[in-house]
Amino acid sequence: MFNTLSGRFLVLTIVFVMLAEIFIFIPSISRFRVEFLSARIERAQIASLALLADDMLSPELEKELLENAAVFNVVLRRNATRELVLTSKIPQPVHETFDLRSASTWDLIRGALKRLADPEPRVIRVIGQPRLRGGSLIEVTLQTQDLRSAMINYGVRIFILSAVISAFTALLLFLAVRIFMVRPINRVIDHMKSYALSPEDSRQIIKPHAKISELREAEVALQKMQNQLTGALKQKRRLAQLGEAVSKLSHDLRNILSTVQLLSDRMENSEDPLVKKLAPKLITSVSRAVTLTESTLRFGKVQEPPPQIRKIGLCQIVEDVVLNERMWATNKNTIVSSSIPKDMNVRVDPDQLHRVLSNLVRNARQAIDLRGTGGTINVTASEDLEQWLIDVVDTGLGLPEEARAHLFEPFRGSVRKGGVGLGLSISQELVRGHGGKIYLVWSNQNGTKFQIKLPK
Ligand SMILES: Nc1ncnc2c1ncn2[C@@H]1O[C@H](COP(=O)(O)OP(=O)(O)OP(=O)(O)O)[C@@H](O)[C@H]1O
Ligand SMILES: [Mg+2]
Repeated sequence: MFNTLSGRFLVLTIVFVMLAEIFIFIPSISRFRVEFLSARIERAQIASLALLADDMLSPELEKELLENAAVFNVVLRRNATRELVLTSKIPQPVHETFDLRSASTWDLIRGALKRLADPEPRVIRVIGQPRLRGGSLIEVTLQTQDLRSAMINYGVRIFILSAVISAFTALLLFLAVRIFMVRPINRVIDHMKSYALSPEDSRQIIKPHAKISELREAEVALQKMQNQLTGALKQKRRLAQLGEAVSKLSHDLRNILSTVQLLSDRMENSEDPLVKKLAPKLITSVSRAVTLTESTLRFGKVQEPPPQIRKIGLCQIVEDVVLNERMWATNKNTIVSSSIPKDMNVRVDPDQLHRVLSNLVRNARQAIDLRGTGGTINVTASEDLEQWLIDVVDTGLGLPEEARAHLFEPFRGSVRKGGVGLGLSISQELVRGHGGKIYLVWSNQNGTKFQIKLPK
């Protein structure tokens, strides 16, 4: 409890409010004492006025007047010559004298604290100013018990009140801290956790929306860091693959270049008409080498930007892919079709999904072309509460064993003549950037089915 932010606020608020209450308590208890004593003086003053009517009071009446005023005796100095005096027996010697007329705040506070600290019943003398110009001085003698118990009573009331106030304030602060700080902080923490689970998924990158400026700054910094990290992770994966690819590349290049060397050797040696015939081969070899190196280098450098997700009709994208691919189909008997519900909207980066589908459909078309007799490619889609599913089915020759073993691995999956082996690996990366998956559902000599799963 004390180790949570809101718990600390709760405890500290109670402590601070209680502390503040102590500072309020000390002067107010001293005020309370002064007021208590002034009230006694006032009552004593009224009692002593009975003497104005009758100079000689009966002892009974005098005793009653003093008892009513709750003092042992009163001296009221009316003017230089006249004094009104009521007296009774004092049970013990006067312990202390307080002059309220000249007491400083300090004296009053000290007097109050001393009274609270001293449990012994004492008799004290208090000198004050008579009320309403009733005289020049009044002096009373009284017992401290009543005063002390009234002060304790008052103190307990203040203590209860401050306990209630501090508990209430602390509760409010506790709730405020929970709502305005802990909750947004927890949101960021949850975000960090889910990001940590799949740091390559750019959709997990935090979108700053905290209203507290410090927290927002933290979110912005986090977003920047996550962008860099996600980018770096992709880059790192590519670099590792690039290293692998480059060694393969140099191996291939050596073969190609040795062909070139062989040909150029022959060209050098003779004026053979063969030169004319061989020259194009030389050019093809060289250009193949160039293509290979180029796409390898491109792969090493290009950084896929995070997807620009927006809502779009799926059939729009699919139809465009299908139209493009029909133009490439060499065999008249190849049918490229799609059946996507017109109202199916997806939240994706349209360009990236277009590239993914183009790769899948192109691979399918190439597999059909291998058959030579044509075939069909069909793109369909369905959705449920959590995801969209897009299927690409073809009637091509199916995946060769080697392609299947290294599916989605850059440069390794290709067994196609002229294929680089990047199509599926790039597609997978793009789909992952959407938090989705791409996988082979089935493949045999009658055809192949790939599926893309995109979370909603
Ligand atoms: N629908 C399919 N039917 C049969 N084989 C396929 C199909 N899709 C992919 N393949 C096989 O998987 C291999 C890898 O595909 P991928 O798209 O990654 O590379 P590629 O098509 O060879 O080259 P690139 O697309 O980079 O030009 C292909 O060479 C092909 O043999
Ligand atoms: Mg391909």
